[in-house]
Amino acid sequence: MKTLSSYHDATVYLNGEFVPANEAKISIFDRGFVFGDGVYEVIPVYNGKLFRLKQHLERLDHSLINIRIAPPLSHDKWEQRLTTLIAKNLSNNTKEQSLYIQITRGVAPRDHKFPEKTPATIVAVSHPFTVVDPNLLTQGAAAITMEDLRWKCCNIKSISLLANILARQQALDSHADEALFLRDNHLTEGAASNVFIVENRSIITPPKSAELLPGITRDLVLELAAKNNIAHLEERISLQRAQQADEIWLTSSTKEIIPVTVLDDKSVANGQPGPLWARMLTLYQAFIHQ
Ligand SMILES: Cc1ncc(COP(=O)(O)O)c(C=O)c1O
Repeated sequence: MKTLSSYHDATVYLNGEFVPANEAKISIFDRGFVFGDGVYEVIPVYNGKLFRLKQHLERLDHSLINIRIAPPLSHDKWEQRLTTLIAKNLSNNTKEQSLYIQITRGVAPRDHKFPEKTPATIVAVSHPFTVVDPNLLTQGAAAITMEDLRWKCCNIKSISLLANILARQQALDSHADEALFLRDNHLTEGAASNVFIVENRSIITPPKSAELLPGITRDLVLELAAKNNIAHLEERISLQRAQQADEIWLTSSTKEIIPVTVLDDKSVANGQPGPLWARMLTLYQAFIHQ
């Protein structure tokens, strides 16, 4: 279990400088704090290397441009700074890290309109990767479904995560691990994950749209399916279709690929993690460690 004090021991990147976490200070007038006016990224680090950095930085730029913040750093500069940061926090037992980047519209008197000539606040933090609970891999996860109460720009990785937080807590309160969102009775994504189903040995995930985050793990799963001749489709998934699926998976950079064996208190197929999930996880792990 990570404690706040273990976070405090780390070095963080704040507006161009590397500082101890407990000395890093941000104004209470920062628009990230006041309005949730910012975006973020989470990048896994395997064996000391940033995984799929290009894809994460492209998505970060996309999020920034969508909220009209000019990308503050080129990809080369990001790479230099992030590599320095993870090296500072690297030790024998932290070669696997999770790197969090947050960019907000900066510090200004509270007013909805964009402030003029205000630099963005840029933060990057890396800490040891939290290993997925092994029970989730042997027994599978439980998920609940619920109406998606979020806005219509879910392709932006916004730091305003209130609806996602409430959904996740509702899942935990129902003794489940994740909440899956529904729009028009169709699955869009999880509160912090993308969703796949398996039907007749084909893997299916909803197409990219403003209803879901274009997950980096989602894209890699589709790429690995294509490379390994596994049938794959991007199609809308009705709740009824999900209830009849052979398998359901969740994907994210921190959870990788997790089988869902219980959906709304009912077993998914035979209630065991499925064979295609096991195959895809093996392919994914091999890709990470190649
Ligand atoms: C809402 C949401 N959808 C999907 C994902 C998965 O994205 P990725 O695979 O890039 O981590 C996340 C990750 O945190 C998320 O928060």
